[in-house]
Amino acid sequence: MDRNLALELVRVTESAALACGRWVGKGDKNSADEAATNAMRRTLDSIGIDGTVVIGEGEMDDAPMLYIGEKVGNGSAPQVDIAVDPLEGTNICAKGTSGAITTIALAPRGGFLNAPDMYMEKIAVGPSARGAIDINASATENLTRVAAAKKCYVEDLTVVILDRPRHEKLVEEIRRAGARIHLIQDGDVAPAVAAAVEGSGVDLLMGIGGAPEGVLAAAALKCMGGDMQGRLVFMSNEERERALTMGISDFEKVYTTEEMAKGDVFFAATGVTNGDLLQGVRYYSGGAETHSIIMRSRSRTVRFVTSRHCFDFKPAY
Ligand code: FBP
Repeated sequence: MDRNLALELVRVTESAALACGRWVGKGDKNSADEAATNAMRRTLDSIGIDGTVVIGEGEMDDAPMLYIGEKVGNGSAPQVDIAVDPLEGTNICAKGTSGAITTIALAPRGGFLNAPDMYMEKIAVGPSARGAIDINASATENLTRVAAAKKCYVEDLTVVILDRPRHEKLVEEIRRAGARIHLIQDGDVAPAVAAAVEGSGVDLLMGIGGAPEGVLAAAALKCMGGDMQGRLVFMSNEERERALTMGISDFEKVYTTEEMAKGDVFFAATGVTNGDLLQGVRYYSGGAETHSIIMRSRSRTVRFVTSRHCFDFKPAY
């Protein structure tokens, strides 16, 4: 692909953040998600791509917009696949707590793992610990290897984990190993990306979260030279059957970053509420400021973009 589409995708995540930013703290996660999805969908149509949503808001019957298989973009070349999470952290946004983002990734056709809407076990690190992780090894072993790669003590590492009962044993083991833990209520894409940002204070993401979110995180980590492994977690036979229809037959398979996001991949995210990775939307008289991160795997250029939006000249949705 000749164009750096990340520079265009940021308009998509910005518009979604400006839209759902109005719902921060209002206790209504569905309206926040709907606002972000509408804005993202509309802005996507102004982008010069022939896109197909492969990771989105759900199946066609369940989601009115940005559903799997939906065509997006203005229809001109290149042909690409799109992964979106219009509002990653709907509860965070509804409560006004930390770490909600809007996010999108783009790959050449067939580039993304078509991850079903189910759980995935994940481990993610930045470029300085690339090659040091193994999802089949214990948490203690992974921490020891990551600390060695980063030339620091295990005690210096901070691991982000979703605060869920399913992670009780993992949390206990990491505490015993001596690493620091940051338990989050929701939103595991941003901390996976933050693990690859020097000075973010995040070294690893570990634990089980959404599989679609895993693919979005893998796209970003690929662009940044980070490393991630993921394994689907099946909770029922129905989930196994759904995976089979999506072409997944090896239920134990460990997916590498490259297997989740192949080819020339682009990623963009904009902060909705303040977090380790990005600041949230700040409104003021006549406009608002947004903070985004955009990147491309081919060049590995990572840009932090601060935009000031003037509503008199370009109204937010
Ligand atoms: P939503 O934005 O759809 O609310 O999902 C947020 C999220 O926290 C993801 O970041 C994470 O991967 C997943 O949900 C975890 O799922 P669960 O809440 O079932 O543990």
